[in-house]
This record gives sequence, C-alpha cells and structure tokens, in this order.
Amino acid sequence: MKLKDKVSIITGAAQGIGLACAQEFAREGAKVVLADVNHGTGEEAAKQIRSDGGEAVFVRCDVSKKDQVEGLVRETVAHFGWIDVVVNNAGVNHSANFFDITEEDWDWVISVDLKGAFLLTQAAARVMVEKKTHGAVINFSSVMAVMALADQVPYCAAKGGVNQMTKAMALALSDYGIRVNAIGPGPVMTDLMKRVVNNKEKEAELLARMPLGRIAECREIATVAVFLASDDSSFFTGQCLYPDGGRMIQAFSRKQEK
Ligand SMILES: NC(=O)c1ccc[n+]([C@@H]2O[C@H](COP(=O)([O-])OP(=O)(O)OC[C@H]3O[C@@H](n4cnc5c(N)ncnc54)[C@H](O)[C@@H]3O)[C@@H](O)[C@H]2O)c1
Repeated sequence: MKLKDKVSIITGAAQGIGLACAQEFAREGAKVVLADVNHGTGEEAAKQIRSDGGEAVFVRCDVSKKDQVEGLVRETVAHFGWIDVVVNNAGVNHSANFFDITEEDWDWVISVDLKGAFLLTQAAARVMVEKKTHGAVINFSSVMAVMALADQVPYCAAKGGVNQMTKAMALALSDYGIRVNAIGPGPVMTDLMKRVVNNKEKEAELLARMPLGRIAECREIATVAVFLASDDSSFFTGQCLYPDGGRMIQAFSRKQEK
C-alpha cells in the first residue's frame, strides 16, 4: 500500500476526479477526508468507501470560504490527529463570450479554483509544520493553464495561477519538508464532460485533437495523485504533471475518419 495511514484531505470529492482520488487513496491505505459543497453525494461516497473496507469521513466545506476551510482542517485533526496530504481538486468552470462575463462569474471561478487551493494549503500546512509532518500538497491545474480558449477566460486565468502558485508554495514550504505539485489533466470523462460532449459531432471534434484517440477515465488521473502523494515522488516539488493523452503536443487536429 502506497499511502498507508496517510491522513488525506480531498476537496471536490463528491464526484468526478475528486471521488476517484478518494477511492484510490482509500484503496492505497489512506485515511480520507472527503470535502465538498455537495453534502448528500459526499456523505454517500464516504459511506461507500467505508463499506468497501476503507477509512473515510465527509466534511461539508466550501473551499472559497476561509472559516469553512479552517473548520475542515480542525475537523480533520479532531478525527484523525494530523494531516499528511492535501488534494486541492475542487474546481468550477464558466464558459461565456468574453463580453458577457460578469464580475460575479470571474470571482466565483477564481475564488474556488485559485483562492480555495491557497486557503486550504495555508491552513493545512500550519498543522503539518506544527506536527512536523513531511506532507504533500497536490493542486489541480489543467491543460488550460498553458493552452487557452476564448470562452474560458476566468478558468484559464485561475489554472495559470495554480501553476505559478504551485511553484511559489513549493519554495515557501520546502524548508519544512512539504512538497507541492500540480496535475494538469486533458479532457476527463466526468459528468461535466458528458454534458459538453453531448453529440457525435462534438465528440469527433474533440477526439481529433487527442493523439491517444480517447478521453481519460477519472481513475487515470487519480493514480497520478497517488504518485504525487506517495514517497515514489519524493524528489518532485514545484512541478505540474500533465496526464493529457498527448493533447498539448498536437499542433493541428488529426484528419477525421469519413
Ligand atoms: N474533467 C476534466 O476534463 C478536467 C480537465 C482538466 C482539469 N480538471 C480539473 O479537475 C478538477 C475536478 O474536475 P471534475 O471534472 O471532476 O469536476 P466535477 O464538476 O465533476 O466535480 C467537481 C466537484 O467539486 C465540488 N465543488 C464545486 N465547488 C466547490 C466549492 N466551492 N467547495 C468545495 N467543493 C466544490 C462539486 O460539488 C463537485 O463535487 C477541477 O479542478 C477541474 O478544473 C478537470
């Protein structure tokens, strides 16, 4: 087991990639705290992990709110005693024409995707330093940190910020033996993706830009998080790994089959 008894907070764990991370971490022996705004699904996910033999609790938390993030850290320590790993997975996107983006849209995306990761890392790192835990922090970036889409300005800005924040936090925490890395997935088959790619034409267009010819399953991203949380990645810090099926090396769309 790669994460035996590692106390791990995973945000946005009620569904999608976060849920896959929680399941994979539990399988690898971690004590998992699932955090999400979605109470019902989150409780259900934690219950399922426990009935599969894992250790898991759910804590309701909006990562964009400092008091709730501090509550999450307090509850984690009260339940499990310390913190080894933080997975800042909670994320939202807002697609809109540039001129239609409101201040609220901008604030929402930046406060969940960027500020949320800052707030939780700061609060959890205080505990790691106090308890002398050589912890690991994993931030969720995206290929959209490096590439760009005209209708996703706040998301691209947030994820680009996550990459730079990852490097700066890695430097700030290196003296304490805390490693900070990021994962920047290409398209992953989550509910969100199923809603966006909802017909054959859109699917063909997306796949034409994917050298591996498919969209990732959530588990293929969760195993990268396990690697970055475990001692297997002990010499990694300040890096972003891109499980993207080759998306970022593809200059032009491939010819589509007739
Ligand atoms: N799906 C993809 O193709 C893809 C690609 C690149 C990066 N990502 C990133 O991976 C991460 C997970 O994406 P996903 O596709 O699994 O998303 P998802 O929409 O399926 O799940 C996101 C989860 O985050 C929770 N959440 C939303 N706002 C929250 C908040 N304020 N506080 C706490 N929890 C909150 C939601 O309730 C949900 O359970 C995100 O950071 C996303 O940007 C996803």
